[in-house]
Amino acid sequence: MPARRKLIAGNWKMNGLHAAGLELATDLARRLASAGTVGFDMLVCPPATLVHPVAGAVAGTPLAVGGQDCHPKESGAHTGDIGAPMLADAGAGFVIVGHSERRQNHGEDDALVAAKAAAAHAAGLVAIVCVGETLEQREAGQALAVVASQVAGSLPAGADAANTVIAYEPVWAIGTGKTATAADVAEVHAHIRATLAGRAGKPDAVRILYGGSVKPSNAAELMAVEDVDGALVGGASLVADDFWAIAETCR
Ligand code: PGA
Repeated sequence: MPARRKLIAGNWKMNGLHAAGLELATDLARRLASAGTVGFDMLVCPPATLVHPVAGAVAGTPLAVGGQDCHPKESGAHTGDIGAPMLADAGAGFVIVGHSERRQNHGEDDALVAAKAAAAHAAGLVAIVCVGETLEQREAGQALAVVASQVAGSLPAGADAANTVIAYEPVWAIGTGKTATAADVAEVHAHIRATLAGRAGKPDAVRILYGGSVKPSNAAELMAVEDVDGALVGGASLVADDFWAIAETCR
């Protein structure tokens, strides 16, 4: 099995004004640069308005920058949307697609998520493709089937370990303080890994992140789970000490 380097990704969601956002990003970049050799990559995904200034502020450091969403088209008459080439132009190397808040609040389905991931790839971005079941689906015993079908439907042709990361985020664990148990996470991640075979290039090398109320107090246990290759962190990524503490569990 190829060694997979952990990825600790922060999703700032709709949070972050200029001064505080830059301070948070530069603080993390400084810690990362002075930490020397570490066993993880670190990424922040600020709101679109801050992608360019944050990318500028952390340029030359190992901290990567990503967007939170992109349109499936490169450009055109799509008021309010952002194309993947614009994110790349602004200094992003990654983009989150199919986050459950997009799936729920904007009615995004797997086909649209796959089109967004394809657009990300065409622009040279790594797509972080999010999947995860609702509480209702978990209680009905459908978690594995739902997640497998989201993975199958949300990956575009050409997805591989170099251009795609999967994030498993059970919807009921996002922003709720509830986390899946290590055993549940292990079961779903193994199922995702199996689902990737034949659907992504180098499936054993694709990183699969866990997300949903990851915090310093539970990160070590979650990051030690087999097939967990990092974290997608919302709330705790807004506090430098907390986000750094989560990353340090993968040091
Ligand atoms: P949370 O969000 O860490 O605040 O639960 C995770 C996410 O939605 O990516």
